Amino acid sequence: MADPVLVLEGVKKSFGSVSALENMSLAAYPGEMHAIVGDNGAGKSTAIKIITGVHSADEGELRLLGEALPHRRSPAHLGDHGIAVVYQDLALVECLDIATNLSLGRLPTRFGILDRKRMRREAGAVLADLKVRVTDVDTPVGLLSGGQRQIIAIARAVRLDKPLVLLDEPTAALGVQETAHVGEIIEELKPTGKAVVCVSHDLDFVFRHADRITVLRLGTTVGTRLVAQTTRSEIVGMITGAVAADGAAE
Ligand SMILES: Nc1ncnc2c1ncn2[C@@H]1O[C@H](COP(=O)(O)OP(=O)(O)OP(=O)(O)O)[C@@H](O)[C@H]1O
Ligand SMILES: [Mg+2]
Repeated sequence: MADPVLVLEGVKKSFGSVSALENMSLAAYPGEMHAIVGDNGAGKSTAIKIITGVHSADEGELRLLGEALPHRRSPAHLGDHGIAVVYQDLALVECLDIATNLSLGRLPTRFGILDRKRMRREAGAVLADLKVRVTDVDTPVGLLSGGQRQIIAIARAVRLDKPLVLLDEPTAALGVQETAHVGEIIEELKPTGKAVVCVSHDLDFVFRHADRITVLRLGTTVGTRLVAQTTRSEIVGMITGAVAADGAAE
């Protein structure tokens, strides 16, 4: 079996007196989608932000491509660490157009000046690749619907071409067709050997596209299951507490 792209072991994080993560562990493998599921407040978004360095873990280990990640990192360095991310609270810049948003973090320059032509061309190509229909890459993102924005944010993460792609509730704002589209994008990412870690409440989506599922309850990893070897009712039981936690986190 291939080495994991990302490993979390015994990660703990408190915000003052609130314990957001008690003991989170998971291993995400290349070519797979690894879903993180759990009730509201279980600590899923906190886990994503610890992986990217927005928050620093109080305890525990993080490894990316076999290398230990320091707890304190600047999120600005996340690209250097091989991570692309779409946060639950979308981080698109509303007043900027689609092309610029897609290029943020990797703005093309020519003789030290922003290469707007190349930016538009590349944005158009990325969107065409992902079969995203937008009338004009010069449209400000603030004028798009929630679903369109979500797809643009996902497109930007995919474009960064990093070994680890983190998606926090990528389908929450999407309709049926758009959700299916995000599923297609994930299925196209998998054969490229990337690891996709995806937080989702949508168990239909999870069972359709995930290879492994890690369940978080009250900040603790209840267990990890191969999708091929579990059922919805087992996962729901793990989320609600009807199914006991595994003796040791996997
Ligand atoms: N910056 C913060 N400051 C203080 N408390 C926080 C902060 N971020 C998260 N928390 C708390 O940590 C806990 C876990 O929150 P988190 O956002 O990780 O949950 P979640 O599993 O992503 O929930 P949801 O499904 O609603 O998105 C919650 O009790 C939340 O209130
Ligand atoms: Mg969340």
